[in-house]
Amino acid sequence: MSGARVLVVDDDRAVRNALMVNLSKAGYEVTLVASAEEALDVLRRSPFDLLITDVKMPGKSGVELLQVTRVHWPDTRVVVMTGFGSVRDAVAAMQAGAVDYLIKPVERDELLLVFSRALQTRAMQRELQQLRREVDEKYGFHDIIGAAPAMREVYAQVQAVADSSALVLVQGETGTGKDLIAHAIHYRSRRSHGPIVVVNCGALPENLLESELFGHERGSFTGAVRQHQGKFEQADGGTLFLDEIGEIPATTQVKLLRVLEGGTFTRVGGEHPVSVDVRVVAATNRDLREEVKRGAFRADLYYRLNVFAIRLPPLRDRRDDIPVLAGHFVKKFAARHGRPCTHLAAGALASLLSYSWPGNVRELEHVMERAVILGNTPEIAAVQMPDGGIELPEDARPRLDDVGPGGLPDALDSYERALITEALQEAGGVQARAARRLGISRSNLNYRINRLAITLQEIRFS
Ligand SMILES: Nc1ncnc2c1ncn2[C@@H]1O[C@H](COP(=O)(O)OP(=O)(O)OP(=O)(O)O)[C@@H](O)[C@H]1O
Ligand SMILES: [Mg+2]
Repeated sequence: MSGARVLVVDDDRAVRNALMVNLSKAGYEVTLVASAEEALDVLRRSPFDLLITDVKMPGKSGVELLQVTRVHWPDTRVVVMTGFGSVRDAVAAMQAGAVDYLIKPVERDELLLVFSRALQTRAMQRELQQLRREVDEKYGFHDIIGAAPAMREVYAQVQAVADSSALVLVQGETGTGKDLIAHAIHYRSRRSHGPIVVVNCGALPENLLESELFGHERGSFTGAVRQHQGKFEQADGGTLFLDEIGEIPATTQVKLLRVLEGGTFTRVGGEHPVSVDVRVVAATNRDLREEVKRGAFRADLYYRLNVFAIRLPPLRDRRDDIPVLAGHFVKKFAARHGRPCTHLAAGALASLLSYSWPGNVRELEHVMERAVILGNTPEIAAVQMPDGGIELPEDARPRLDDVGPGGLPDALDSYERALITEALQEAGGVQARAARRLGISRSNLNYRINRLAITLQEIRFS
């Protein structure tokens, strides 16, 4: 360990000199002092990697020196030397945080071994701290799980934009984590000490949405008995999260665009411009570009919002994250519901991986919560998949037109029949294999075959 700086503390000059010789030869940079007081003086002036001290000295003892060092220079590792037969001193020193102790007379090999070990653990601890910091900075997004490339891209974008006051549009299917990302942007920005105010733009009728966003003056409409502060004002100094921005009606779009461009607005029924310092994050699960084409969303507002757009990938496009997410939810819900579950059996994981998750992470979360609530063993053997885990391709989706006089039950039966027939065909008529393909038990399949009166003649084997 060449170059590491060592401070040697001993009132016995012979011991000091012996250590000096051995340590310098091994490449350490050595400083010698004769008392704890002197040692503290030296430490105050420059940092040391290691400190080796005698315990019994006139003035402050080595253990006292150790204690002060631990507090003020936690990065300096301390090794103590005790006389033969003073095991108690060694124990006290170890309890006070020494990394090791040596019995006098100190053997050269033992000394070097203890030192190199101390430096090694120190390097490892530092590395660990550094890694923790990096992971925290990069991925420590308030419980946001996932390391798929598309998610890393999202984290990088959040990181890049958070600190500015730029408008951000978060897009993604339902349940992909838009809410989480919007909050992460706020909490990683300089505005994190200010408020984050959430408005669900789809939840209010047009007239109420305007007054919700911009506030209103007294008497501006029936029922407006008091002046009311809108969400823009409430979010002053912080972030306004406009959720489901795609739902916002045309007139409100105009007004919103004006605020985004000028930073000022008037309350409903008011005349005076109000100006606020607000960072807007908007989210939508609609394809806004399509909405613009359809004429349902203003193009100018869209372009304004789209300057910094973050697109969250659907879960089916990042299947690698399914196991980590599932594991995360198992732990979370096991703790919440007091269940012994710790992990998923391979079979259960396989069903999670083979599903298309139209409801994305939210749907997975619900499936896992249910599995944990029902679980009474550490291993979750099976999970109940939504709709038996069969997700239909887009073009095979049933149409309302398909519902005939037999109503929904008949329509569902014919659907089930079609799937079972196909599975049996694919399985060459082997029921166990078809059952596996359908994610149900053999007896369940048998029951359904009987119920639907499916005959093997129906099945064309290829
Ligand atoms: N990457 C993730 N890591 C951990 N949990 C996640 C992740 N993404 C989503 N979730 C969880 O899934 C659920 C849905 O996420 P969120 O509410 O952010 O979705 P959303 O995109 O806003 O959906 P919607 O469009 O329906 O509003 C939440 O409980 C959230 O905590
Ligand atoms: Mg949401």
